[in-house]
Amino acid sequence: MLITPNRTNLNKIVILNPKGGCGKTTLSTNLASYYATRGPVPAVMDCDPQGSTMAWIERRPVSLPAIHGIAAYKRTMQATRSWQLRVPNETTNLIVDSPASLTSDDLREVTRDSSSILVPVLPSSIDIHAASRCIADLLLVAKVDRRDRKLAVVANRTRKNTKSFQKLMRFLDSLGIPIIAVLRDSQNFVHAAEEGIGICEMQPYKVRKDIVEIEKIVTWLDGWQERRYKSAESSLIEQAPNVTVFRKPGVSSG
Ligand SMILES: Nc1ncnc2c1ncn2[C@@H]1O[C@H](COP(=O)(O)OP(=O)(O)OP(=O)(O)O)[C@@H](O)[C@H]1O
Ligand SMILES: [Mg+2]
Repeated sequence: MLITPNRTNLNKIVILNPKGGCGKTTLSTNLASYYATRGPVPAVMDCDPQGSTMAWIERRPVSLPAIHGIAAYKRTMQATRSWQLRVPNETTNLIVDSPASLTSDDLREVTRDSSSILVPVLPSSIDIHAASRCIADLLLVAKVDRRDRKLAVVANRTRKNTKSFQKLMRFLDSLGIPIIAVLRDSQNFVHAAEEGIGICEMQPYKVRKDIVEIEKIVTWLDGWQERRYKSAESSLIEQAPNVTVFRKPGVSSG
């Protein structure tokens, strides 16, 4: 069982799509390196028996900002499960890299207590079909409520102006779930993965376009508490339309 701390200041970001090779690990490692550079130390929980994220952390140069890796796919006899899965106290972003082919139980477990869920999708008919099933399962099996606004899509490995890209964007648009970034198909991601770094740790002139998209994702993720607050506010208004809701200072009604 996955035990994650129920801390009010911890954004549990689950990267999920049972379709293999859509970019879950790429998104996880690039977000982790972005948060590591910004501080405080982020944590990455690798739930995939392939262990790709843990292998990336092992390749990471020691001179770079630290990332706390949690090998959740490993079962150890030496420590309790909660000790094995512990998240450092200072950590405010926990990224969960999930495996391909999740069962319904896995899906429920991995998304439990999540504050943000990102679904990377590739522009091909097969991937679009798989993504629509994944989103349906999230809504119906994992009972993710659209009104919680914690679910978003990242289009990955795109080549603009191609038919497959336009088809992907039409499909994503039809779901009514936000498409928060469009990552291009770029060798920068492949080189970064090989070196145990993220694109934000590469030479800026090479990665400017890619970083703009990663920053869009981070901006959306950073709004998790406000989204949670607004969703609680909306359900309160739905339940009791005549009740006056007092807003927290600094939170707009938008
Ligand atoms: N935007 C991109 N541009 C170029 N290559 C990419 C991009 N995103 C991912 N890749 C490459 O595609 C391959 C699959 O990506 P990744 O391992 O992140 O997918 P995954 O969803 O984690 O796969 P799995 O389901 O097997 O865990 C990797 O070789 C990765 O380097
Ligand atoms: Mg992976």
